[in-house]
Order: sequence, then C-alpha cells, then structure tokens
Amino acid sequence: NRLLLMNGPNINLLGKREKEIYGEFTLQTIEDNLTELVQAYSGELDCFQSNHEGDLIDYLHQANELAYDGIIFNPAAYTHTSIALRDAIAAINVPVIEVHISNVHNREAFRHKSMLAAVCYGQIVGFGMNSYRLAALAFLENK
Ligand code: DQA
Repeated sequence: NRLLLMNGPNINLLGKREKEIYGEFTLQTIEDNLTELVQAYSGELDCFQSNHEGDLIDYLHQANELAYDGIIFNPAAYTHTSIALRDAIAAINVPVIEVHISNVHNREAFRHKSMLAAVCYGQIVGFGMNSYRLAALAFLENK
C-alpha cells in the first residue's frame, strides 16, 4: 500500500490553533503517527500540506500520475467552498477519504456542507487524531 496524507489550510498551525477544538497535537505528530501505522502494515506514506488551493489541486493530479493506492485528505476550510477541489477528486482514479479532526456537524452551519464528500470514497469526522488513523485503516484493512 502506497498512501498519501494531504492536509489543507491552517493545519500547519495545529497545536497552537483553537486547541479546545483541534487538540494539542501538531501536524508533525499526525504525520509521524500515521507513518508508523502504515509501516506496521508494510505500506509507505508520503505527506503534503499546503495553504493554497491550487497547490492541493496540482498535488492530486500528481498523486494520480504516481498511482497511489489511496489519499487521506483533510481539506480543512476548502471542504466547504471548493468546487475546484471537488472536480480534481472526481477527475482522478485514486480513492480519497475526507477526514476532519473536529465533528463538523456540531459546529457552525457553514461547516455542515462538504463540497467534496460526494466524490470521495468515504468521510471520517470528529475523532481527533484518530480520524486520520481510521482513514488509514480503511485503506490498509480494505477487504
Ligand atoms: C477541519 C474542519 C474545517 O471546518 C475547518 O475549516 C478546519 C479543520 C477539521 O479537521 O476539523 O480547518 O477540517
């Protein structure tokens, strides 16, 4: 299994940002934790974070070229706004699992709608760092 972890805007600020919502852990911790999990299944994980919508789109295209087995993607605020990211996910062959740290459904109404979920393989929300781990397991233990 060759998996890709992608994180969108402001996820680089985890550990400093709205800790009561997102917890104390950092992006580095997520990346290390997930790498360890994927390696325990003899897989490989690459990681990418960007605050820029176009860079995330370019990376999805590249992930398709590189034929990853799956993408674990927290698109952050672009989840709720980006038709361009939706079209990119729809355009590629690699399955994407949409992940959120917080439970977006018990927050502001504008977070209840995902532009992306309908073109994703699945969606996992609300479990903190475990949202990422559960998404990885969905690929690694896919039967
Ligand atoms: C988030 C939820 C989004 O609504 C928000 O814009 C984020 C983080 C999450 O992981 O809970 O930046 O994607």
